[in-house]
Amino acid sequence: MLPFHRSIKQEFSAVNQLIIDQLQSDVGLVENIGQYIVNSGGKRLRPVVVLLSALANGYSGQQHIKMAAIIEFIHTATLLHDDVVDVSALRRGRETANSHWGNAPSVLVGDFLYSRAFQMLVDIADLPIMGLMADATNIISEGEVQQMANAGNAEVSEEMYLQVIYRKTATLFEAAAQVGACLAGADQASMAAYGRHLGMAFQIVDDVLDYQGDAQTTGKNVGDDLAEGKMTMPLIFARDNGDSAGRRFICDTISNKTAENFAEILALVQASGGIDYSMQCARQEALLAKQALENLPASNFKTQLSDLADFSVSRLN
Ligand code: IPE
Ligand code: IPE
Ligand code: MG
Ligand code: MG
Ligand code: MG
Repeated sequence: MLPFHRSIKQEFSAVNQLIIDQLQSDVGLVENIGQYIVNSGGKRLRPVVVLLSALANGYSGQQHIKMAAIIEFIHTATLLHDDVVDVSALRRGRETANSHWGNAPSVLVGDFLYSRAFQMLVDIADLPIMGLMADATNIISEGEVQQMANAGNAEVSEEMYLQVIYRKTATLFEAAAQVGACLAGADQASMAAYGRHLGMAFQIVDDVLDYQGDAQTTGKNVGDDLAEGKMTMPLIFARDNGDSAGRRFICDTISNKTAENFAEILALVQASGGIDYSMQCARQEALLAKQALENLPASNFKTQLSDLADFSVSRLN
């Protein structure tokens, strides 16, 4: 359990129970794959954001439990699809669902999780929240498609990269934080900003960990981004700040979508300062996230939202 789960222990276990209950299906394979991915030990950060945001804004109802489970379902669906698209073999320290069962079952069970999330949303019957979640889900898929379209393109700019990570990752954190405020009838804009900056920090660090993380700790293989020809922040910096030979080597490797040169590319990224630069950008995003909390009344929940922003940078998994 991470430290920010402590003040919301009860709510958090209610969310986990609801997730298990809602995985129920008459189709055996749906349940098998659903349980496999859900029980594999994800950090459940997005549900934590929903709970903390609602509670920090004074919410006293019960819908935050459901919203937290809904957002984790959407997140899990994106992971099932993402691992197919990224041809990833390891997730949460285990074989990915696509490695174990194949691409088709992973995609279809991802669809099951998306649609289950929307069934649960209908249950809440709050049109503005439904709209928020429909928009977020739509934007995430645009981000993933945009990133796929950019794969193998060594000319991707930092601006383009930031747009992709906003869409594919920060959007769901943004929705999670905003939904909490929406339930509480509080200021949504500042919570949305908190979630957005948190999500940006989170993905920049994810992209750093894809270069110099430890697979034992992250539960994911390093080098997946390079193997798929993706220009992420550390590599974009190395391309733009290294010598011309390094630049050519990076561009050729990205165009060829190969994992073969990983060690050489990592050395170029580190030597250029690409890791340090990325971590500095992540720290800046985390700072902006914390600043967005300024007008919240003091509470343990607020403190933990702030801690979560720090964790998004210091995390090793
Ligand atoms: C992984 O998210 C996908 C990204 C947006 C980088 P998490 O790191 O939150 O995944 P789990 O749920 O904890 O496994
Ligand atoms: C996260 O990006 C994409 C999603 C929104 C699912 P990544 O492709 O970097 O995520 P990981 O590293 O596979 O978890
Ligand atoms: Mg991936
Ligand atoms: Mg991906
Ligand atoms: Mg990644």
